[in-house]
Amino acid sequence: MSKINLALVGVGNCSSALVQAVNYYGRSKKRLRTELMTEKVGRYSVKDMRFVAALDVDSNKVGKDLSKAIFQSPNNTPKFSNVPETGVTVEKGPLLDGLGSYAKEKIQIAQTKPVDVKRLLRKKEVDILINLLPSGANKATKYYAKEALSAKCSFINATPSRLASDKVWQRKYQRAKLQLVGDDIKDQIGSTVLHETILKTLSKRGVKIDESYQLDVGGSIESFSALEKDRYSYKKKSKLTALGSAVPYKFPLVAGSSDYVEFMGNSRTSHFWIRGNYLGKSQFTLDMTLNFIEAPSCASVLIDVIRAVKLAKDRKIVGGPKEICSYAFKMSPDPIPLDEAAKLFEKFSTSKH
Ligand SMILES: NC(=O)c1ccc[n+]([C@@H]2O[C@H](COP(=O)([O-])OP(=O)(O)OC[C@H]3O[C@@H](n4cnc5c(N)ncnc54)[C@H](O)[C@@H]3O)[C@@H](O)[C@H]2O)c1
Repeated sequence: MSKINLALVGVGNCSSALVQAVNYYGRSKKRLRTELMTEKVGRYSVKDMRFVAALDVDSNKVGKDLSKAIFQSPNNTPKFSNVPETGVTVEKGPLLDGLGSYAKEKIQIAQTKPVDVKRLLRKKEVDILINLLPSGANKATKYYAKEALSAKCSFINATPSRLASDKVWQRKYQRAKLQLVGDDIKDQIGSTVLHETILKTLSKRGVKIDESYQLDVGGSIESFSALEKDRYSYKKKSKLTALGSAVPYKFPLVAGSSDYVEFMGNSRTSHFWIRGNYLGKSQFTLDMTLNFIEAPSCASVLIDVIRAVKLAKDRKIVGGPKEICSYAFKMSPDPIPLDEAAKLFEKFSTSKH
């Protein structure tokens, strides 16, 4: 069975967790059933995934082997796997709007010339390009999506930039008989998935939601960049889209990152608040806190998405199948409730064709 050749755009925290996970779970059968979302997607296991190219702009990462680049500052997600040399050198991509003014305070841009991305993707026979650029890198996301299209690669948009949920981009990928899935990964365990589940459960049981918020603090470079409100507006929008779909009416709802706390590292604390009423106008409030590490939660879902995109490719299903997009992303082209999406994904991944 052929391997799935992957290229990474943005060797940040999520890429670090993903590369570590592919090494860690690719070696052991025992641990697969407990921590991963899905052991096998079609015929594909984690063992079948292979990184063949990586792009970044940070002088700490460009020119290094991927196994070393993933542990360079400002990446701060914990190390859980000793990744051996991969033979993949991180290449310099064009910067465009990849970094905002806050991120530029912490990242030195490599002075080397950007590579020809299309040529690199072709030379390395990349099946799927995974976009893990920072939130707000809208021009850079479109640039890489165009290069992937010309190089005949499928595209996973893990970022909140609007792409897979945009009909124009979907048509371009469909015409090229390629897959385009996104936008903005819904974490394995994260603030959006939990908040959405609680709101939906309450709403289904006849509870009237009066107001709710979800405020996050974290110590990753993403949380730091989120202080730049314009760049962060896309992330906020995708969170609100996912949460708003859980309840069939509008109510005051606030969601998003509210501050950067450097010593938290790659962990994030999400504070949830819900106020509502039920039979006899009886009032309730729910006040809950979640603390988790961000990047592994994204990588876990990506491991399912990568294998599902390859499966769609094998089955000649083009564009952004709802079995993948609605299951794994906050802003999908065809949003459906979480529980239905999980069933669809399972059917897709276990059926024979
Ligand atoms: N749990 C999660 O962490 C999670 C969940 C959902 C979505 N996401 C999304 O995933 C994306 C990546 O998150 P992260 O925490 O890994 O971010 P990060 O900031 O740690 O990594 C981004 C990387 O992109 C690089 N970069 C910037 N401009 C570039 C360019 N033009 N070309 C190539 N590389 C460039 C940066 O140098 C950095 O290494 C974000 O858009 C985030 O919103 C993350």
